[in-house]
Amino acid sequence: MRIAVLGSGAGSNFLALWKACHAGKIAGEIRLVGADQQNSGILEQAEARNIPTFFEKKGKNFSERVAQRLLEDNIELVCLAGLMRIVKAPLLGAFPNRILNIHPSLLPKFPGKEAWKQALEAREDETGCTVHYVDAGMDTGEIILQERVPIKTDDTPESLHARIQEAEHRVYVESVRTVISSLAD
Ligand code: GRF
Repeated sequence: MRIAVLGSGAGSNFLALWKACHAGKIAGEIRLVGADQQNSGILEQAEARNIPTFFEKKGKNFSERVAQRLLEDNIELVCLAGLMRIVKAPLLGAFPNRILNIHPSLLPKFPGKEAWKQALEAREDETGCTVHYVDAGMDTGEIILQERVPIKTDDTPESLHARIQEAEHRVYVESVRTVISSLAD
């Protein structure tokens, strides 16, 4: 399975997926990494592993240009990890049921930005992370897997986000394994 990972941040989810592919836990290979932020950690992490990368600036033809690049590289599965764009028609249509996203809350609770802060502000005692299929909405597609994360009384936004990210790495690897095996059936 030829996988692309698209993000804009540090790239910790990319790294977790890459390690799982490398260790044979995921029956696939990351063949392309893209970002909508230049000089982002995810691009550096990919370049250090000799994976082809691309940068696509935000703009009205973003989804179209990204779709074109993914199709040119024969990508079969797309994993979003922190991409700061809503994926739209040409990209969605080119990869039906083959675009996944990781979100740092137990969806449908707290969609949108900085979901860990939203959970703290709402005085929840637990939150978590969700991997879901991407549809035209924001963080609304069918849920694949979730993991719960307790909120401690002394949590700061940073400590909570770090604990959620540890869970994200487990849940993303497991979700990609599940999706690939369902595609193989
Ligand atoms: C993750 O926390 C993910 O939930 C959110 O963006 C972040 C990306 O982090 N959508 P990283 O670049 O994978 O470290």
